[in-house]
Amino acid sequence: MMQRRTKRLLLRDFVEGDWTAVYAYQTHPDYLRFYHWDHRLPEDVQEFVKMFVRRQRAQPRIHFQLAMVLPESGQLIGNCGIRPRHVESYEAEIGYELDPAYWGNGYATEAARAMVGFGFAELKLHRVVASCIAENEASVRVLRKLGMQQEGRLREKEWFKGRWWDVLLFSVLRQEWDSNQLSVIGNQ
Ligand SMILES: CC(C)(COP(=O)(O)OP(=O)(O)OC[C@H]1O[C@@H](n2cnc3c(N)ncnc32)[C@H](O)[C@@H]1OP(=O)(O)O)[C@@H](O)C(=O)NCCC(=O)NCCS
Repeated sequence: MMQRRTKRLLLRDFVEGDWTAVYAYQTHPDYLRFYHWDHRLPEDVQEFVKMFVRRQRAQPRIHFQLAMVLPESGQLIGNCGIRPRHVESYEAEIGYELDPAYWGNGYATEAARAMVGFGFAELKLHRVVASCIAENEASVRVLRKLGMQQEGRLREKEWFKGRWWDVLLFSVLRQEWDSNQLSVIGNQ
């Protein structure tokens, strides 16, 4: 069972029973705003969590999508992960989502920083990428706080909720990550 501690969070592998906590926030309208989904049914969320559990068990394991948990209460508040393209890939994509009740506390940034660090240190990546809907300002802000740079804009890439949406691509390279982390440590 994989787990990681950050300053305020426990990041751990999923178990199937986590679906109820995920369902509680994935049905929130603020959460659904930048996704294709209009609503979420219990069976959708059960399948979503089962997919993570299946990927955890894969040999070799490629996907690392961990539950974000508050250590004191054990409350699951979101998830965050890194997904290499394939085994021994030099590139991986990150993603994250959080219960709207906990937005604006820096939790997504804290979790994503741990997962990007894991990717460069342990998966020996060269490049970490992310994509997000251009209007998802909170997500863009998380990526910028991680030191990622915008490297593209895919115009009208997605269709959902009755309109087209632009998608932004971000990346950070190993050498940029290493020098950013050194300056973070130097400033403490
Ligand atoms: C994106 C998401 C994970 C961010 O989680 P979070 O824990 O609130 O993120 P953080 O607190 O680390 O950082 C959010 C930043 O965005 C800023 N922000 C939030 N809403 C904003 C808005 N509407 N406009 C501009 N900035 C905004 C916050 O002020 C904060 O920046 P700051 O630290 O400079 O003040 C969360 O909003 C979420 O789960 N959204 C729904 C799912 C989703 O969109 N996932 C990402 C798909 S790419």
